[in-house]
Amino acid sequence: TSSHLIPQNAPTLAGFVMQNTKDKDLVILMQAIALCCKQISTAVKRAGIAKLYGLAGEQNSTGDDQKKLDVMSNEIMTNALRNSGVCAVLVSEEDEEPIIVPEGNQGKYCVAFDPLDGSSNIDCNVSVGTIFGVYEKKEGSVGTTADILRGGDDMLCAGYCVYSSAVELVFAFKGGGVHCFCLDPSIGEFINSRVMKFPEGGGKKIYSCNEGNSEKWDQPIKDCVEAFKIGEKPYAARYTGSMVADIHRTLLYGGIFMYPADKKSPKGKLRILYEGFPMAMLIEQCGGIASTGLFNGSFQRILDVVPGHIHDRCPIIMGGERDVNFFYSFYENAG
Ligand code: AHG
Ligand code: MN
Ligand code: MN
Ligand code: MN
Repeated sequence: TSSHLIPQNAPTLAGFVMQNTKDKDLVILMQAIALCCKQISTAVKRAGIAKLYGLAGEQNSTGDDQKKLDVMSNEIMTNALRNSGVCAVLVSEEDEEPIIVPEGNQGKYCVAFDPLDGSSNIDCNVSVGTIFGVYEKKEGSVGTTADILRGGDDMLCAGYCVYSSAVELVFAFKGGGVHCFCLDPSIGEFINSRVMKFPEGGGKKIYSCNEGNSEKWDQPIKDCVEAFKIGEKPYAARYTGSMVADIHRTLLYGGIFMYPADKKSPKGKLRILYEGFPMAMLIEQCGGIASTGLFNGSFQRILDVVPGHIHDRCPIIMGGERDVNFFYSFYENAG
């Protein structure tokens, strides 16, 4: 038979969300996000033909030069989530202010997202992604910025989609493990394909950071990265410049991903609400550690940081226990 080609009991995203949460609004939300990912994936694939490479001409509120695909992906996501009927507050990397969904269309969810992650890779056809974190608005709230300016442990769901040789949607509900859905292009559906978990013992020895910034790092970070290169079996360096791709590899193969603070950027580069938090939740739920490194005088769990502004940044040191603890060992009083 051809049963190996045509799945006869496909574990779909909607079925999975319904069975695991019994929350129909969450099914609608995840379906809306999945549709956006399919649309963005198509835009990314057709970019060369549709003349979608290149700059849009504006800067976003964190000073990034927006690409045409950044702007288009943002339109796709804000429209879909606004019209889903289940959202109240939307925060996007590409919008200065949060979007408050009008009362008639409003639901209970607040979503922070990075519509297209990996700017520097967009125009050269290297993997890019989408990142999201989901909160529920506070009891009785009409939907305000305060509903989303919260600690990371308040997220009830977080995930990313990676647009690569395969399109994979990876997400977790709070405390529920990390699940991977692969887009089956033959039917246009995300199908549950694998469970994500850190490899036993820490997995491959890989370090992932933009070492071009090392001149501006603190001494312990420099020492740690130098130590990765020493010994019988030194670590391999792997860094794509797309956080989604680098974290996807880290979750599957092991290793450590770092975007530390440096002398020029004391808060690092990556943004808390739509980069740091969602990835920190996934890393922890896969059995890893997500830390800020030394930040404002202490070592903090990323999910414990409370952003003061929707576009705030924090330094990021995340990966398996073996490697993050090795990183800590270069500081005297680290925990
Ligand atoms: P974005 O494209 O959403 O602005 O994010 C870019 C981020 C992230 O994907 C990546 O880890 C990092 O910036 C790369 O920065 P460098 O080019 O400084 O290494
Ligand atoms: Mn950007
Ligand atoms: Mn990003
Ligand atoms: Mn982005």
